[in-house]
Amino acid sequence: MKIAVARGDGIGPEIMEAVLKIFKSNKVPLEYEEVEMGKWVFDNGYNNGMTPKAKETIESLGILFKGPMETPKGKGVKSINVTARKTWNTFANIRTFKSLHGVDTVFSKAGIPVDITVVRENIEDTYGGIEHMLTHDVALSRRFITRPGSLQVIRYAFELASQKKARRITCGHKANIMKITDGLFLECFYEVAKEFPDLKADDVIVDDLCMKLVTRPDTFDVIVLTNLQGDIVSDLCAGLVGGLGFAPSANIGDHISIFEAVHGTAPDIAGKNIANPTALLLSGLSMLRHLGLTENAAIIENALLYTLESGVHTADFGDKTIPPVNTTAFAEAIIANFGKLPQSGAREIIPNKPGTPVPMKLKSNPMLVSQESAEEKIVGVDLFIESDELPEAIAAKCKRHAGVKFQLINISNRGTQVWPTGSVYTNLVNQYNVRFESIDEEPLNQQDIIGLYVSMSGNFKICSLELLNQWGDKKGYSLAQGQ
Ligand code: NAI
Repeated sequence: MKIAVARGDGIGPEIMEAVLKIFKSNKVPLEYEEVEMGKWVFDNGYNNGMTPKAKETIESLGILFKGPMETPKGKGVKSINVTARKTWNTFANIRTFKSLHGVDTVFSKAGIPVDITVVRENIEDTYGGIEHMLTHDVALSRRFITRPGSLQVIRYAFELASQKKARRITCGHKANIMKITDGLFLECFYEVAKEFPDLKADDVIVDDLCMKLVTRPDTFDVIVLTNLQGDIVSDLCAGLVGGLGFAPSANIGDHISIFEAVHGTAPDIAGKNIANPTALLLSGLSMLRHLGLTENAAIIENALLYTLESGVHTADFGDKTIPPVNTTAFAEAIIANFGKLPQSGAREIIPNKPGTPVPMKLKSNPMLVSQESAEEKIVGVDLFIESDELPEAIAAKCKRHAGVKFQLINISNRGTQVWPTGSVYTNLVNQYNVRFESIDEEPLNQQDIIGLYVSMSGNFKICSLELLNQWGDKKGYSLAQGQ
């Protein structure tokens, strides 16, 4: 089997060298094709941070093992890592956080074991990075949560929980506040839960989840979250098991999967050969298991655990009374310990059963659309306008544009209603949301909306608009605070 390897930037080449040395010494039956990806490729004029040849190679091999890559600083530049995950639709980001014997944490000292798998949605959410300045004072980010995207990652999380016989699968969310977006994610969670009646499925609001994770991490098993919340919660979990040096990740897609450490390029220690290669090694081990190379994965993991137990450590962790070793020596210590078993957490040796990573050749982009039986109608519009006038003055002007089809329902500022009722203590910025709805819930068409838009544009700069959609009785829009 052949896989693509990108060494990455900063500490990337050093830790990748260490991990590949361990793999080669263990005779892992893989061939490695190096691809050109990273900041230096970006600097050479490739805006997505990879050469066309790299893209072609990864798409034909289906597996990318990558080192961390630097996101060039500056406006208009997207992260190479996020681009890779999104381009190849690696919809589930799996991060496992397990107490390791030899890596002291407050929990290991208290005898509380941590074994948490975070499944983070990897494509949607604010990670679309779709952002605009609506006025010189007001920035807007669009947060996409989709039903097919949520179902894809949640179903994967349930399958994974079922395979590992998880004690519990928990959805982390903020559906109490973001009722439409997080509400949709949570709805999908319980929809999929019905297909897995043997699993205990529950949900926790994400702030409460963070508190519970740092007080009782042993009560959690598999946690599934939207992209940004998943990102934050997974770094929190990394802290529970000893830091970023021990946090592996797998980006799983239907056709292409990417395996990488959670941490970045660590520019502060790059080039010194002192970085901890454990997170990348653990990511590599989940890649080996993904490819059916279970025997190699178990032997290497047992050697890693044995090495950690024996006190060998890099500078970022471990017993300070024992001098640290460098990256190369750490890898050599693991190689020297092949065949040894750790006192705790030894992995069972299961013979290899190699699969084939070669992805199916796709002729066109897959279209993900779910069924909706209820009738869709447009019942109004939110017009986001720029104005530094007071709400009463805006309302007086807006009413003149309502015509025979619309009625002005309310005006809000930063999501808080300021007309028809509100408080003078609400601070205002120069961008309002003006909501018009149809009279008597009569369905509207796009021409009606455009007519209102044209009329309103005589008085206001309209920054953006959103249709108010309804499916059957289900409203597809939120209320303003105080409405
Ligand atoms: P970072 O993860 O690179 O570093 C944070 C801290 O952890 C630093 O003090 C660093 O020395 C330490 N650290 C990280 N990995 C370590 C290791 N293996 N061994 C020992 N110490 C380690 O995060 P930072 O500084 O915010 O980001 C640096 C660059 O990495 C940025 O350009 C960022 O965009 C990129 N990045 C890339 C990621 C990826 O490729 N998946 C993920 C996160 C950041």
